[in-house]
Parts: sequence; structure tokens; C-alpha cells
Amino acid sequence: MELDLSGINIRISDDMHTWEEVNLLYNSALKQITTKIEILNEEFQEVHRYNPIEHVKARVKSPESIVKKLKRNGYESTIENMVRYINDIAGIRIICSFTSDIYRIAEMISNQKDIQVLLVKDYIMNPKNSGYRSYHMIISLPVYLSDRIVYVKVEIQIRTVAMDFWASLEHKINDKYEAEVPEHIKRELLECAEMVSDLDAKMMSLNEEIKDAGDE
Ligand code: GTP
Ligand code: MG
Repeated sequence: MELDLSGINIRISDDMHTWEEVNLLYNSALKQITTKIEILNEEFQEVHRYNPIEHVKARVKSPESIVKKLKRNGYESTIENMVRYINDIAGIRIICSFTSDIYRIAEMISNQKDIQVLLVKDYIMNPKNSGYRSYHMIISLPVYLSDRIVYVKVEIQIRTVAMDFWASLEHKINDKYEAEVPEHIKRELLECAEMVSDLDAKMMSLNEEIKDAGDE
């Protein structure tokens, strides 16, 4: 499911004029979402004695990759186009242990009043042809400046350790061969993706079982 987000973001792009401003705003948005996620994780640890999140990585996309992506999509390199069409200028990746954690985290994020979920892509329910699995959200959240509020988009990717392991290797292979990944490697990657999915399912049910045993 793809939505056209361009309308929603007009107000956003009107508020950013220079790369310095863009960088400041997206960095601020990342700091906020990182803190929100830390708080959720600590609260969860307090209440349930359990850490749903293994680790978190956040990055602002480099100007070079932003320009490359704009060009790839047929847009001129302007600040307005960046802000309007590139959804992953600010990106955060949340790695957790179990598939059930992914949906729990996604729900906790969506429920926050100041966060607006613009787009969800569930590549766990609907894996990509490559075998890629992950849960993606594009959200927008307010950044408070001295004289105005700017709504900034952040791409959130949530995946298990096993899905992350697979995605890193696949990414490395794609980089190495560029567009020409040999068929047998693609096939084996797809097989690995199925194994990852089976592993995640087994680990989750084992975890449920020991949790039930602990509750008795
Ligand atoms: P991009 O132009 O790559 O950002 O894709 P998109 O705008 O169609 O969005 P999508 O949700 O499909 O992908 C966003 C991000 O998810 C990518 O930038 C990658 O970080 C990651 N991703 C998506 N598909 C794959 C895949 O097949 N393999 C790997 N390793 N990562 C993927
Ligand atoms: Mg991307």
C-alpha cells in the first residue's frame, strides 16, 4: 500500500529553507523519538521485568544519498523536494528479540498523542520478493523551535535480531554485486529468509511456553 504523502507535507516543507535547517530539524526529531523509545523500554523493564528492545540505531541520511535518491526518482535537488518526497531523511531502526515485540512497540509508538502515523508497510505479513521482512512506519512528530512548531517525518524500521541479520547480509551482497546478484545467491537468500522466519516463530513460541511455565 502506497499513499501519496506530498499533500500532507506542504506545510512542513514551507518551514525549512536551508540544509542546516533541515539537518537541525531531522536531528531533533531523531533525538525525540530515540528518547521516547528509551522511555518505553525502561518502563517495560520496570513493569514486566523484560526488555522488548535489543538495540536502536538512528541516523540522518547524508546529503549525497538524499540527492542520489531524488535523482533516481526524477526530482530536482531542492530543499522542498527533499522534505516532501524523501521519507527516510531521519531513520531509526529498532531491533527486538521476538516478532510479538515488534507489534507491541509499533502500537506503543502509534498511541502517542503527538505522533501521527503517515504510512505503515508491514513486510512481515507481506514479505518482499527478496525475502525481506521488517515493519516500517513513517511518522511525523512536532519539533518545537523558538518561534514555531515544525512537523518532521521519521522512518521507523522495527525488526527482530534474526531479520536484521538477514537484512545486513542481503544488503552487503547487493552492494557487492550491484544490480547483478547471481540467481543461485538470490535463491539461497530466499531460503535463508524462510529459515529466519521459522526460527523467529519457534523462538517466540518457546518464549511463550517458558513465560506460561513461570506464571504457574
Ligand atoms: P527506499 O527507496 O529503498 O527507501 O525504499 P521505499 O521508499 O520503497 O521504502 P521501503 O519501505 O520499501 O524501504 C525502506 C528501507 O527499508 C530501505 O531503504 C532499506 O533500508 C530497507 N529495505 C527495504 N527493502 C529491503 C530489502 O529487500 N533488503 C534490505 N536489506 N533492506 C530493505
Ligand atoms: Mg531508505
